[in-house]
Amino acid sequence: MSAMNGTGTRVPAPRIEHHDHPLGVGERSPRLSWQVQTVRPGWRQTAYEIEIDGRTTGRIKSADSVLVPWPGPALTSRQQAEVRVRVWAAGETRPTPWSESTTVEAGLLEPEDWAAGFVGSADISVGDRRPVLLRRDFTARPGLLKARLYATACGLYELQLNGDRIGDDVLAPGWTSYHHRLPYQTYDVTGLLRAGANTIDGWLADGWWRGEYGWNRIGERYGTDTALLAQLELHYTDGSVDQIVTDGTWTWAHGPITASSIYDGEHHDARIEPAGWTPVQTKKPTVGELTAPAGPPVRRTGTLPPASVTRLDDGTHLIDFGQNLAGRLRITVTGPTGTEIGIRHAEVLEQGRLCTRPIRTAVAHDVYVLAGTGTETWEPRFTYHGFRYAEITGWPGDLDPADVVAVVCHDDMHEVGTFSCSDPLVERLHENVRWSMRGNFVSVPTDCPQRDERLGWTGDLQVFAPTAAFLYDATGSIADWLTDVTAETGDDGLVPLYVPHIETDFTQFHCAVWGDVTTVVPLVLFDRAADLGPVLRGYDTARTWVDACRRLLNDRDVIAEGLQLGDWLDPAAPPDRPQQARTDPYLVATAYLAHSARLLARQAELIGKTDDAFVWHGLADRVTAGFRREFVTAAGRCVSDTQTAYALALCFDLLTAAQRVHAGERLAELVREGEFRIGTGFAGTPLILDALTVSGHLEEAYRLLLEKGCPSWLYPVTMGATTIWERWDSMLPDGLINPGNMTSFNHYALGAVADWLHRTVAGLAPAAPGYRTLRVRPRPGGGLSWAAAQHRTPYGDAAVHWQREGSTLQVEVIVPPNCDAQVELPGQQPVSVSSGTHTFSCTYRPAAEDPIAPLPPRRYF
Ligand code: BGC
Repeated sequence: MSAMNGTGTRVPAPRIEHHDHPLGVGERSPRLSWQVQTVRPGWRQTAYEIEIDGRTTGRIKSADSVLVPWPGPALTSRQQAEVRVRVWAAGETRPTPWSESTTVEAGLLEPEDWAAGFVGSADISVGDRRPVLLRRDFTARPGLLKARLYATACGLYELQLNGDRIGDDVLAPGWTSYHHRLPYQTYDVTGLLRAGANTIDGWLADGWWRGEYGWNRIGERYGTDTALLAQLELHYTDGSVDQIVTDGTWTWAHGPITASSIYDGEHHDARIEPAGWTPVQTKKPTVGELTAPAGPPVRRTGTLPPASVTRLDDGTHLIDFGQNLAGRLRITVTGPTGTEIGIRHAEVLEQGRLCTRPIRTAVAHDVYVLAGTGTETWEPRFTYHGFRYAEITGWPGDLDPADVVAVVCHDDMHEVGTFSCSDPLVERLHENVRWSMRGNFVSVPTDCPQRDERLGWTGDLQVFAPTAAFLYDATGSIADWLTDVTAETGDDGLVPLYVPHIETDFTQFHCAVWGDVTTVVPLVLFDRAADLGPVLRGYDTARTWVDACRRLLNDRDVIAEGLQLGDWLDPAAPPDRPQQARTDPYLVATAYLAHSARLLARQAELIGKTDDAFVWHGLADRVTAGFRREFVTAAGRCVSDTQTAYALALCFDLLTAAQRVHAGERLAELVREGEFRIGTGFAGTPLILDALTVSGHLEEAYRLLLEKGCPSWLYPVTMGATTIWERWDSMLPDGLINPGNMTSFNHYALGAVADWLHRTVAGLAPAAPGYRTLRVRPRPGGGLSWAAAQHRTPYGDAAVHWQREGSTLQVEVIVPPNCDAQVELPGQQPVSVSSGTHTFSCTYRPAAEDPIAPLPPRRYF
């Protein structure tokens, strides 16, 4: 812990990019961020000084503390640097004490750094997908200083040194667009080595490289052979280095895992001892660049004990974990050799048994065969399932609930946002959103974690990104995935509907809402996390996308042909034709093009491309004019007289001031006529509450939020949901499961509503990138007596808590150091406050509506 200065201010160790453990980083000039802990209200940084390995920058006059440029020479491969920082504040002459140091170490930054080659099994029998074991014995000389392992695989791998697991990643190296880049992991293995004889060995399985997946169940999507790449570097005190690399000296054998598949589960026969070790074969897979990951790995992030265990008549144990999640079971069992335990998984029950129809062809069946040598603990390695329930067959004797846990697995992101309020159903809804994020950030931000799909659908993340950025520090994970979005978007601006792209029977087309991931998400990361990197790296891709959509415009400046998914999953669409929404898909596409052109103009301004900005503003105006001519009457009624049409027109600022008033009224009317049941799909749902709010219909927004009849946000909660469902009625009111073949119980897209809970119910939003200025704008309503949100911004903790006391609204606001807040309470003039804790009170005015004002260009605030 670094010391406080005389005024009670300290700076904890700086953060390197978005890394928690900056070991093996891929950035040559990683940006630095630091937060300041201070008891001084109104604290403001005026200057900073960074020291790297004893060389300092001197005092740099700047208030910046988030992602500031690396001030030293670029790092070279394996280079370590000690980084610390101190800062000066307004009104203080002396700086803070130096922070603790952060040690950053670069990974292997050049292709020539790799002496290792890919190796794998030499068994060439076609279709043998059995995972294999690989191993190499070696000697470490005395005088070892440190050791690093750089490793990755075509497939999934886990390695161990002298029997101890290396690292704690799950499903490494994760899934990326392997033809473009393959991430490698860096581990500090110093503590696992001993002078003398050592063994490195481990597992290699199909994973996404070779396994069968996608609903068309195609295998070998990236290659026919799995392969491991490992480079162990032993650094000695005398400066010498030994490298133990994957090459022809390694051996392989079959081991106890007899089958493993992401969708179908894993079979492990603990009786099988690896035997017949033979030399590996060197492999030449087609992979892109070897890169260090920008985000955290998938890890085990928690365990849940059974909420109940029921023994069924046929001897099967039915376990309810009380929570739908992504992960797998860990069992501890004792029994005779050869006892076969089967574990099946499902998200829901139907008539008291697992309902596996929604997982379609995913078998989700793990099998463990006991060695019979005593107490055995087992968890599958290279698979995961989306489940709340499990059925266990073959358990020897009575199953003690303490012998089974559900292990939750996902990207190991920090939780940075919370929300709570006086309505337990809304709190549960919010918790469900969090769990759906946890269930779907598994290496790739996926649509769902359970069925034969689990793809990185671009539209889903497009609408969910603001919520994701509030709940977790997901910038690293999302930015990493955006790299693949860029890599896989064609020069023709065809953004894949899901990334990484795999061949299915689903043709790729220029699809609004989905392709708009390229214009929306980089700006979300800028507005929420103050990271301009994704905008800089993604600008050309976003431009190609907008340009492609521009080419789709007809002579009336609207998009009027081509495939579109439109307001996907409008509750009125026939269950087997989710794209047949009430809202004209070309209205959706045209509205999104105007929106995206405006977002692109903003991106161009941010990165100094002012000429481009002019062009994109022009396009936005042109498409907005086309939209008004084609889809809106002069008075403001939309030709698709639907909630989604008005929500788009209002939120994307596509109407004149007069049209907005009428459109808002018509939207509120439709919401009332619909008896507050949801009438929107993927395009409209993330926007409708904002549309009602900005058009002065907050009361209707709350009524819609709090409705419990089907379809509504709270209906699933009343049905016991613990995650967000794909369909409003994934479970029907009679408890039966929706017969449609697309019925996930863990889809985050419709959970995008949480962003409105944070910004409008609690009233916490950024008004400047990274929350450097907070917008505190609670709009109480819906009978709530209190609400609160907290968010660890890049500058520190921010919070809003309001509560009603009689006819008074009491509001407490926490503003992080170096930040300020614009506080806009209902019916009050805005006030500006600086960092510290502030309390306010004003008259409580439920669902107080604001005068309708022209909208600022949409930001992801
Ligand atoms: C996925 C979605 C996705 C959609 C688009 C579905 O199968 O689960 O969330 O966006 O297809 O077609």
